[in-house]
Parts: sequence; C-alpha cells; structure tokens
Amino acid sequence: MTTRSIPAGISMEGKRVLVTGAASGIGKATALVLAQLGADLVLADLSALETTKAEVEALGANCVAVEGDLTDDAFLAALFAGERLHALAHCAGILMRAPWNEDPDWNTRFHRMMDVNVRVPLQIAAAAIEHMAAHGGGHIVLVGSVAGKTGGTSLTTPPDYSASKGAVHAIVKWMSRSGVGRGVMVNAVAPGPVQTPMTRGNNNGPNLPLKRMGTAEELAWPIAFLCSSGANYMSGAILDVNGGAFVG
Ligand SMILES: NC(=O)c1ccc[n+]([C@@H]2O[C@H](COP(=O)([O-])OP(=O)(O)OC[C@H]3O[C@@H](n4cnc5c(N)ncnc54)[C@H](O)[C@@H]3O)[C@@H](O)[C@H]2O)c1
Repeated sequence: MTTRSIPAGISMEGKRVLVTGAASGIGKATALVLAQLGADLVLADLSALETTKAEVEALGANCVAVEGDLTDDAFLAALFAGERLHALAHCAGILMRAPWNEDPDWNTRFHRMMDVNVRVPLQIAAAAIEHMAAHGGGHIVLVGSVAGKTGGTSLTTPPDYSASKGAVHAIVKWMSRSGVGRGVMVNAVAPGPVQTPMTRGNNNGPNLPLKRMGTAEELAWPIAFLCSSGANYMSGAILDVNGGAFVG
C-alpha cells in the first residue's frame, strides 16, 4: 500500500508560524491544525499557553510559547526578532458583551477595544510584512468578523466590536497593497458565530442556514490554508466562514 504525504500546496513542513491568541478558541485550534500540517510554532497570548504548547508538541511540532500583552509594543516587536517566520495567524482579540451604552467606563472600554482589535492587527501586520519581506515572503492572516460586514448578527453585538472588525477588514486591504509587491500575502477570515470562550452563553446558530454555530476547528482549516503556499495567488481576500450567513 502506498502512503500519501501531505500535498506540497497545503503542507507546512519546514515552516515556522506565529499564532496569536493561541491559548484559546480559534487561535488554539489553528495552532493544532498547523502542527498537524507539519509547522513549527511560535505561540503568543496574554493567557497561559502550557496546554496548547503540550498539545502541539505531542503532534511533533517544535514550539516556543511567549506570554504577554500584544498592546505592549516591545512584546510585539520581540516576536519578530528571532528566526524566520513564514506565516502569521493573528487570532488574538476581545469582545466585551456587557451593555455598552450603560457602561460607566465607556471611554476606557472603547479605547481598549480599539487598541487590542484595531491597533494591534495593524502593528502586527506591519511588523510581519517587514520581517517576511526581508526573508523572502510569507503569509499573514487576520481575523475579522461577520459583524464587521453586517454590523452584527443582533443588537447584542456591541457596536465597538463591530466597528473594530470593520476596521480589520480595511486593514487587510491596506496591508495587502503594502505587502503583495514584496511577496507577503495578507488575507483574513470573517467568521460567523463560533463556539469558543468568547461566545459562551450565546447561541446564534439556529438563525443561520447551517442551523448551528461553527467550531473553532472549522475556522482553523481555512486560516491554515491562507498560511500555506496553496494561497500564493490570494491577497486582500476576506474569506466568509459563517455557516452560509450570506446565502441570501
Ligand atoms: N468566537 C466567535 O464567534 C468569533 C466570531 C467572529 C470573529 N471572532 C474573532 O476571532 C478571534 C479569536 O476569538 P475566539 O472566539 O477564539 O476568542 P477567545 O476569547 O477564545 O480567544 C482570544 C484569545 O486572545 C487572547 N488575547 C486577547 N487580548 C490579548 C492581548 N492584548 N494580547 C495577547 N493575547 C490576547 C486571549 O487571551 C484569548 O486567549 C478574535 O479576533 C475574535 O474577535 C470570533
């Protein structure tokens, strides 16, 4: 019997990928899928990374895990100071669900949302383009949202979050213009509702054509594809991964 190896277009063998938000949800699932595809990993998150690190190492990946806040410029810059990174899957992000218009700390909350969900994607994509262009190219994947396209699936989606994700989509276009001529492809996924700690207690699934929320792994595969050489002719795309929400 012949054994089949992973096709070159999707194989991540010999590639190093930085995955942010890797302690939880979509970021953790992305790290596991990339490890299955042969990647070595650099994981970054505010939260503890021991579990993800142990799980990707069990799949055979070499892994470095760094804990810190991506809004700290020095922490972010240090992620690009080491060996070549072939791809970045930037999955870190926040959503604060408490009623926004009753929040006495609205201004503080708004600025934190924009810092984590807008400034960080912009900074990390810019740093990744410089690093990858200097090393012969690469792939950057940001995570937007259906909320950035529709304003949110319901009024329970806070407007600061929807606005931040619309900004991520605009950042993908801008960064794509900056990166594509230098061999760095910049794309995003725009997930619909996905079962992760971020959406605990919410179930928007029944309203979708697929009648269920997505799993983190169902986002991880499209993200991994966008990190691979199979996506070498894609830049500036915002891939809808949303249970058919835009079927009409
Ligand atoms: N879950 C969904 O339904 C959904 C839908 C659309 C988009 N998204 C987006 O997908 C991405 C991943 O979300 P998730 O559902 O996996 O959420 P999650 O809460 O499970 O994971 C987010 C991770 O980001 C990390 N993080 C947050 N701020 C950080 C910071 N300043 N520095 C470093 N790490 C930080 C958190 O510690 C956490 O581990 C986010 O950008 C989110 O907005 C999620």
